[in-house]
Parts: sequence; C-alpha cells; structure tokens
Amino acid sequence: MKSYTLLINGQKHSVIASDDTPLLWILRDHLGMVGTKYGCGKGICGACTVHLNGVAIRSCQLPVSAATSGEITTIEGLAKNGKLTSLQKQWIKLDVPQCGYCQSGQLMSASALLARTPKPSDGEIDSVMSGNLCRCATYTRIRQAIHAAAEEGGVA
Ligand code: FES
Ligand code: FES
Repeated sequence: MKSYTLLINGQKHSVIASDDTPLLWILRDHLGMVGTKYGCGKGICGACTVHLNGVAIRSCQLPVSAATSGEITTIEGLAKNGKLTSLQKQWIKLDVPQCGYCQSGQLMSASALLARTPKPSDGEIDSVMSGNLCRCATYTRIRQAIHAAAEEGGVA
C-alpha cells in the first residue's frame, strides 16, 4: 500500500491503496464518488468512463499508480459551478436515460467527443459511442442529444 495524490474535478485527494487498484475503485469506494458506475470491470461496457486530461478512459482499467500524473474529471465534475453543460441539458430535454445505469459513462464519452470534434457526424458519433453499451438501447436519443448540443455550440 502506498499514498497517492489524485487531482479530481479540480481538487486534490490523497488515498492509500495498492498500486494496481483500479481508479474506479478509488473513486467509488475510497472517495464516495458513485456517479461513475461499475459494469463489466473488463473495459468492455464503458459504464466507468471518466476523463484523464480530457480524454475518455475506462477507469476500471487504469491503475491508481497511472492516474497521478493527470487531471481526472468524473461525472460529478462535468457541470461547472452548478451550471449544467449544453450536453447535460439536452440529455434532460430529450429524455435520454431509461434505467440510467450507463448514462454517466455515456455523457463522459460524449463530452470528450464534442470537446475534440465540435460538430460530429452520425458516423463519428457511432464510432466513438460504440464503446459505451446501453442495455436499454437509448442510442438514437444519445445521438440526437449530441447533435443538439453541437448545434448549441458544443460541450460547455
Ligand atoms: S466497468 Fe469499465 S468498461 Fe465496463
Ligand atoms: S439507460 Fe439503461 S443501460 Fe443505458
């Protein structure tokens, strides 16, 4: 066990953990940030998606020892100063979630996509979002919400 300091949503957090403890475990079990979900634990479903330096990554696959160098953003940090992003507002407006379980991962993947590609095509959306599985099959509404946020000017 070692002490690690992580920068998450603009705040430093110190945790004591084994170096191979997945970031997902640190977020949920050590820090109580339960917005990030556990799905498969194998990098397949995307439920655990967070950003590391703005890039969408699977937190179940990233050991804490590899997470100390960058800035981590979780679903709890997507809104800034209590203000929802365009993407989050469109998610609500278009009633995207059904059971909701996959949705924080979907939002994290979608927001990283919009930050990189402000006006993505259907093909670009499908290609990026194909790594986030939804058992309720909300894919059509996810695509609509991403397009609507892009029309409003992107991710902020
Ligand atoms: S829980 Fe990480 S990809 Fe499924
Ligand atoms: S909304 Fe239910 S799994 Fe995606």
